[in-house]
Amino acid sequence: NWTMGSFIEHTVAEIREQVGDKHVLCALSGGVDSSVSAVLVHRAIGDKLTCVFVNHGLLRKGEAEAVQKFFRDGFNINLVYVDASERFLNKLQGVTDPERKRKIIGEEFIRVFEEEAAKVGEIDFLVQGTLYPDVVESGTATAAVIKSHHNVGGLPEDMKLSLIEPLRWLFKDEVRQVGEKLGMPPEIVWRQPFPGPGLAVRILGEVTPEKIALLQEADAIVTGEIARAGLDREIWQYFAMLPNLRSVGVMGDERTYAHTVAIRAVHSHDGMTADWARIPYDVLERISSRIVNEVEGVNRVVYDITSKPPATIEWE
Ligand code: XMP
Repeated sequence: NWTMGSFIEHTVAEIREQVGDKHVLCALSGGVDSSVSAVLVHRAIGDKLTCVFVNHGLLRKGEAEAVQKFFRDGFNINLVYVDASERFLNKLQGVTDPERKRKIIGEEFIRVFEEEAAKVGEIDFLVQGTLYPDVVESGTATAAVIKSHHNVGGLPEDMKLSLIEPLRWLFKDEVRQVGEKLGMPPEIVWRQPFPGPGLAVRILGEVTPEKIALLQEADAIVTGEIARAGLDREIWQYFAMLPNLRSVGVMGDERTYAHTVAIRAVHSHDGMTADWARIPYDVLERISSRIVNEVEGVNRVVYDITSKPPATIEWE
């Protein structure tokens, strides 16, 4: 029954001991787990840690800038930022199947990460934001990640990477407490889960730069209004998605034929099951009117009122 303060102290000492004067690499996603892991390891070994953040062009509005600002300026962490948007978007051209999108993005991600890792130079350790439930559930989460790294393109066989998993004894709520104790801002500590393939699985059908830009704007309105209503810590996930569906509307004297945006917001504990969130009508109303007024190319907003099961949280 330790406090988070003594957990941090203990873990920092342990990482220092484990790493010695070797070098450590961390794939930063901007999510809670990888962010808290990075800050914890940085506290232990400072400049011996290099973080790599790959922007696949499927992030939410302002996310890439926020991550750089926070880690580089706020915490002085060595950060390699790679804008690989074009590479990912080229690979995704014409792809409509959700599982193919995931596979393409996953493989390309590892390729980019490995290229950047090679540029960093000699590396001995890899930071992984594994939590206790991951360890318990699979027992092989670690092996699976390593394996996938090796299978695709492959880290050189002789690259002896050991893992640092500073959060492997913690649950999510404890990770957030550690983050707060480390002085990390609430935007990061209280971040909602965001899928690895990002907006690619929130755009049904083909992903194009125009659709990404449209969805980023609509999504920023949803997240902004949910936060303004003080619901951001209460709702598990809340976002906009693009069903890739056009319908008829009217604007002034003109008929429009434009996109529909769907809002998804759910309560959940672990993402396995979920209940659609009863967002107050006035909040929904503000979201809807702001989206149709501010986001060009949208003339209709709908709210997804299905729980999981039978629906999933994401539409793809
Ligand atoms: P579903 O849509 O299956 O999602 O109800 C359950 C939780 O998992 C997230 N999710 C993903 N996370 N890669 C991820 O890292 C993915 O491909 C992916 N698909 C879904 C989803 O956001 C929700 O939190």
